Amino acid sequence: MGRRKKRKRVVEDVEMTGIADKGKAVGRAPSGEVLFVDGAVPGDVVDVLVLRKKKSFGQGIVQEFKSYSDDRVKPFCQHFDDCGGCKWQHLDYAAQIRHKHTTVVEAMRKIAKIPTETISLIKGCEETRYYRNKVEYSFSNKRWITEAEAASGEEIQQHPAFGFHRAGAWDKIIDIHTCHLQDTLSDQIRNAVREYTMKHEITYYDPRAHKGMMRNMIVRNTSLGEWMLILSFGEPKMEIIEGVMSYIKESFPQITSLQYVINQKLNDTILDQDIILYSGEEYIIEKLGDCKYRIGPKSFFQTNSKQAKVLYDVVKDYAQLEPEMNVYDLYTGLGSIALYLAKDCKQIVGIEEVEPAIIDARTNAKLNETENSIFYAGDVKDVLTEGFRDLHGSPDIVITDPPRAGMHKDVIETLLKLSAPRIVYVSCNPGTQARDIALLSEKYDMVKMQPVDMFPHTHHIENVALLELKNV
Ligand SMILES: C[S@@+](CC[C@H](N)C(=O)[O-])C[C@H]1O[C@@H](n2cnc3c(N)ncnc32)[C@H](O)[C@@H]1O
Repeated sequence: MGRRKKRKRVVEDVEMTGIADKGKAVGRAPSGEVLFVDGAVPGDVVDVLVLRKKKSFGQGIVQEFKSYSDDRVKPFCQHFDDCGGCKWQHLDYAAQIRHKHTTVVEAMRKIAKIPTETISLIKGCEETRYYRNKVEYSFSNKRWITEAEAASGEEIQQHPAFGFHRAGAWDKIIDIHTCHLQDTLSDQIRNAVREYTMKHEITYYDPRAHKGMMRNMIVRNTSLGEWMLILSFGEPKMEIIEGVMSYIKESFPQITSLQYVINQKLNDTILDQDIILYSGEEYIIEKLGDCKYRIGPKSFFQTNSKQAKVLYDVVKDYAQLEPEMNVYDLYTGLGSIALYLAKDCKQIVGIEEVEPAIIDARTNAKLNETENSIFYAGDVKDVLTEGFRDLHGSPDIVITDPPRAGMHKDVIETLLKLSAPRIVYVSCNPGTQARDIALLSEKYDMVKMQPVDMFPHTHHIENVALLELKNV
C-alpha cells in the first residue's frame, strides 16, 4: 500500500513586514510563526501555502492575496516574472531602501546585539536602472520555458537561449531580449551575438552533456566610456572563434578591450583560465573622484561605479586619516579603497588573494602617482600575522572589506591582537558583518554605521561600520 501524501498546510492572514534573501518577503502569522514567502511584498496580507517547515520558521508561496501593499508598483522589465535578477522591481524604490535599512538594524540588534541608534539612514541611488558596470550572460542549448507559456496550452517552440540563469537553476537559461541593468549597448551586443551565432548555427553550451561552443559572455564598462568583452568558448574550434570575434570587433568599435577564453572545465569561472586578448587593451580604466583604476579581466571592481564613490567617501569620512597614519586595507581587490585613501596617509598596505588583482593594484599605484602603497597577494588569514605587523608597523586604522562570508575567525583573532585604534568594516552582508562585530566587541565598540544601496531592486545591501578600540 502506497504512503498517503501529507496535505500542505495553509496559514491565513499573514501580514508581510520585511524583505528577505532571494526576493522573499517575511512576515509573522497571527500564531507568531515566522514565514518567508515567495510572491509577496512587505505590506501585503496573504494566505500562505507552507512548503517547508524548519525549526524556527516556515517557507511558502502565496495561496491568496487578502489585501495588497500600498508600496506595490508595476515592474518595468518584460522578463520580471521569470528572471532572477531584479526581484524587488514590484516594490517602490523608497520602500526598498526603507526595508534594507531595517534589515541592517535588525541584523545588528539580533546578531551583533549592539545599540542601533547610531545607524544612519541608508544612502539610496539616484539612478535605479542601468547602474551596473558588469553583467555576465550565459548560453544554453535549451531555453527556459516560462510559466505563462507552459500554462497557455499552445505548442512550445524550443530553441537555444542567451541570457541569465533562472533563479536557483544552474542549467536553465532565460532568453533575454531587454535588460535594464547595464548601458543599452550591452543589450545591443548580446542581441547581435545571438543573431550572428544562430544564423551561423554555432552550438550553444549543453550544461548537462558539457558540450557546445558558446558558453558565457562578460560585458564590463566604465564611466569613461571604455568597454571590455570576454567571451567563453566551450571547445577549441579556432575557425568559429575567429569568425565570432572578428564579427564583434567590426560591429562594436566601442569595445576597447576584446578578449576570449577557451573553457573546457566543468565550471564557468575564468579566474583560473588563460584569457586571450583579441584586440584593444588588456584592461579598461575607471575613475572615481581623482583616482583612476586599471581593471583587468580577472579583477573585482565594485559593480555600481557611482555608488562605489559614495561608499568610498563614507570610508574616507570614517577613517579620519592624518598624514602620519599607517593603514591596512584587507581584501583590497585591485587596491580600490587603498588608492582612494593613499594621498591622505603615510602608508597603506593592501592584501588580496587574487594575484592578477594585485598586479593591477601595483599598476594602479603608478597610474595615480602614489608611492606609499604596498600590495601583497595571499589569503588574509595567512598573510596578516604579528610578523606582518612587525614588518610594516602597527596599523592606526584597518579597513576591511571581505566577501559575503565575512572574515575568517583567524583574521578576527589577529585583528584583536593587533588592536588598531580604529577599524572601518565594509560589508556586502550585514548578517556576517554583525557576527564579526559581535566577535570584535571583546575589544571594539561600534561607533557609527552607514548602509549604502548599490543594487536597486535586489535584496543586496552594502554597509560601512566604524569600530573604535575600547578604553581598557
Ligand atoms: C568585496 S571585494 C572588495 C574589494 C575592494 N575592497 C573593493 O572595494 O573593490 C572582496 C575582495 O576580497 C578578495 N578575497 C576574498 N577572499 C579573500 C581572502 N581569503 N583573502 C584575501 N582576499 C580575499 C576577493 O578576491 C575580492 O577582491
